[in-house]
Amino acid sequence: MSTSADIGVTGLAVMGSNLARNLARNGNTVAVHNRTPAKTRSLVEDFGDEGAFVPAESPQELVASLKRPRRLITMVKAGEATDAVIGEFAPLLEEGDVVVDGGNAHFADTRRRERELRERGIHFVGAGISGGEEGALRGPSIMPGGSAEAYASLAPMLESIAAEAPDGAPCTTHVGTDGAGHFVKMVHNGIEYADMQLIGEAFHLLRDVAGYTPEQIADVFGTWNRGRLDSYLMEISAQVLTHTDAETGAPFVDAVADSAEQKGTGRWTVQTALELGVPVSGIAEAVFARSLSGHGVLRAASSGLPGPRAEAMESDAAGRFADQIEQALYASKLVSYAQGWHMMRAGAQEYDWDIDLGAVAAIWRGGCIIRAAFLDRVRAAYAADPGLTTLLADEGFSRELGRAQGDWRAVVATATRHGVPVPGFSAALSYYDTLRAGRLPAALTQAQRDFFGAHTYRRVDREGVFHTRWGGDR
Ligand code: ATR
Repeated sequence: MSTSADIGVTGLAVMGSNLARNLARNGNTVAVHNRTPAKTRSLVEDFGDEGAFVPAESPQELVASLKRPRRLITMVKAGEATDAVIGEFAPLLEEGDVVVDGGNAHFADTRRRERELRERGIHFVGAGISGGEEGALRGPSIMPGGSAEAYASLAPMLESIAAEAPDGAPCTTHVGTDGAGHFVKMVHNGIEYADMQLIGEAFHLLRDVAGYTPEQIADVFGTWNRGRLDSYLMEISAQVLTHTDAETGAPFVDAVADSAEQKGTGRWTVQTALELGVPVSGIAEAVFARSLSGHGVLRAASSGLPGPRAEAMESDAAGRFADQIEQALYASKLVSYAQGWHMMRAGAQEYDWDIDLGAVAAIWRGGCIIRAAFLDRVRAAYAADPGLTTLLADEGFSRELGRAQGDWRAVVATATRHGVPVPGFSAALSYYDTLRAGRLPAALTQAQRDFFGAHTYRRVDREGVFHTRWGGDR
């Protein structure tokens, strides 16, 4: 066995084999390995002509085939499997070698693994990879976290396989140390949940209140996709809505059960946000909306609850309403992104990561599921002011919110009148109004807390902590 391979990939399910093929197609010699060797053999049989592969039947063989310092990507199931694979490979590696976990690990696991491997002199890089199967093969957005030294040794390869942003820049950057990459990937997924929920709410309103057919909604989405809402998710939503179910001939979307599932990264985002004390209400509502959609028994038991039935509008009014929905969707999206970026800033502070918040936007412009023209605006906002407290305060975005807010309120009001749920639009609007408010009822909350639990309060007119001796029989 010659030590000829530039990099190794272990774990050859769809994501792993596509990533290995992407590396090989871009001129890297790739050693490939899978616990079940049949998958290694079939990868090399099926795609061996795409580039240079070195098949390995065992971890020992894989490690022996790698140039030094060795670089190895694990693409196995997150959780115990990742620990098992690291446990198997670590004793075979030497100081200075680099292990990359390209799975969807929780950032806390990545922090632990990085610490454990660092003690043995091995670099561990937790790399968030977004873009699904197609992205892994043709160019994902890659979010690596780990030591600067490890990143430097991987950068040329990662840049060769990452997606390209519209300006030609590769969609990868050194996000920060240890768990920063997987943290940022987690927030990406949370934002993705919010984006999908908001598009879903727009669809619901266009269908039930504007009275549009899925085909007509696809047209509306197509138009929006040529404007400031230009994004991959908008594009595929339009495609889905033009699709007809082969069996029934009905619009495909009507043939799909309306119970959304989730793999858990949205839940992680919300759990972590709660721990960090960052309100990500748009993302949380998206996670809850998926969850509630799946409570079939609860929904069936509640279907007789009183309330209005949505009635379709006249077509002139419907056209105007569609324009208002575009404003509501854009403004709500902006709020979700502002919440996601707030969370990344808070995570960076808590875990001591030097995250360039504009660079994160830049590497999400291509390859990943939330790729969108809009992200270049986010990048530019942080380039103009790296210390920006909230995206909503950026001059350009704040001007757009000013223009959108009338329609945004009208959409939430109309939805409420028609009995159409808009948890994403309304949570975003409430967040916006909370930030704008001069005074909040939090003052009453503090007074209540002092009343029942002597939790004390601060005053508007002088420094210090106060407690009132509330009267009565308490
Ligand atoms: P999928 O991505 O198709 O859902 P998966 O079950 O998540 O598949 O497994 C992804 C990869 O992790 C596979 O390559 C799998 O190896 P096998 O083909 O042998 O099943 C690998 N994998 C899962 N658990 C593993 C473990 N404990 N040790 C080594 N590899 C493991």
